[in-house]
Amino acid sequence: MKALILSGGKGTRLRPLTYTCAKQLVPVANKPVLFRVIEAIVAAGITDIGIVVGDTAPEIKAAAGDGSQWEAKITYIQQQAPLGLAHAVKISEDFLTNDRFVMFLGDNVIEGGVTALVEQFTASDWNAQIVLKSVPNPQQFGVAELDSGRIIRLVEKPAEPKSDLAVVGIYMFDRTIFKAVNSIEPSWRGELEITDAIQYLVDEGQKVYPYIHKGWWIDTGKMEDMLTANRLILEALEYRMEGSVDSKSQLVGKVIIEEGAEIINSVIRGPAIIGEHTRIVNSYIGPFTSIYHHCLIEETEIEFSMVLENSRIVDIEQRIDHSLIGRNVEVTKSSVKPRAYRLVLGDHSRVGIL
Ligand code: TTP
Repeated sequence: MKALILSGGKGTRLRPLTYTCAKQLVPVANKPVLFRVIEAIVAAGITDIGIVVGDTAPEIKAAAGDGSQWEAKITYIQQQAPLGLAHAVKISEDFLTNDRFVMFLGDNVIEGGVTALVEQFTASDWNAQIVLKSVPNPQQFGVAELDSGRIIRLVEKPAEPKSDLAVVGIYMFDRTIFKAVNSIEPSWRGELEITDAIQYLVDEGQKVYPYIHKGWWIDTGKMEDMLTANRLILEALEYRMEGSVDSKSQLVGKVIIEEGAEIINSVIRGPAIIGEHTRIVNSYIGPFTSIYHHCLIEETEIEFSMVLENSRIVDIEQRIDHSLIGRNVEVTKSSVKPRAYRLVLGDHSRVGIL
């Protein structure tokens, strides 16, 4: 069994973060989403992993390397342009050869990993198995229609869905998928769609079965979903204390303080994680917050937010809430007259001001 992780794409919905950072490397609860995907695959016993990469290839290769940090072997497959999920499968045939494989979108996180799915598919003679999840708003997803336990139809964003089972970004395939991806035509948006390839398998009479996932699953492609994934993962983490906390500080609930972090005269209410060598001074860090490595939070209150590497937030009077703050960002109070907001914001930035 092999694994194929898709980490190309454009990431337009996560701008401006994705102008400077691959979305799969955004640390959710202080660990890149891609690393969580790799860990789930390795936990399912698969160590031969292909990663499809696009424009952000150098950054992804630098972070994940040859896979030895997970005792796995990673092969990178360059996709010249983001021409669709089925296109990503098509260009990976030389890597996948005759093996059955799990395909996992590199920006998805799923509760409980993929071990049960991989075991079920391994024990079967099925050609494909598609992870589905019951959702309240199937109109916004690819939706599967089932009959006698098999998938008989997939419809992209149906106005009148026949079920509430959305297609999650995790799939099991055998080599029949190559005929499918080589036979389908690009969709109206110019991409080779994986739903069309799966529909092709169904129409050819191949055995396509569902795997109905009961836990949570998040596609972190949008900011709101990134914050939700951060919350859900933080809830599941174990308490860890590797930094220092002074006697005037108070930690409440599940809090993780990573190596070299310093908490000075501050209150941290978990679940929350404070990254390596970050300093929290005279501040309040509220629930569901991740502050990544080498940050400074001083005289500030912040909750339900993510702050990425090397950012400084100092002397902010109003509480910061529901925010995603990138790398090397400075948010400070200005003492220069006239009293005014002084903003240097990249394209597609969003600021809510009181
Ligand atoms: P999407 O989130 O569907 O696409 P995207 O990354 O281009 O984002 P946006 O819609 O915001 O512009 O992609 C899901 C995953 O699959 C993601 O990890 C990127 C990856 N992908 C590829 O590797 N190749 C592709 O051709 C596409 C479309 C996506």
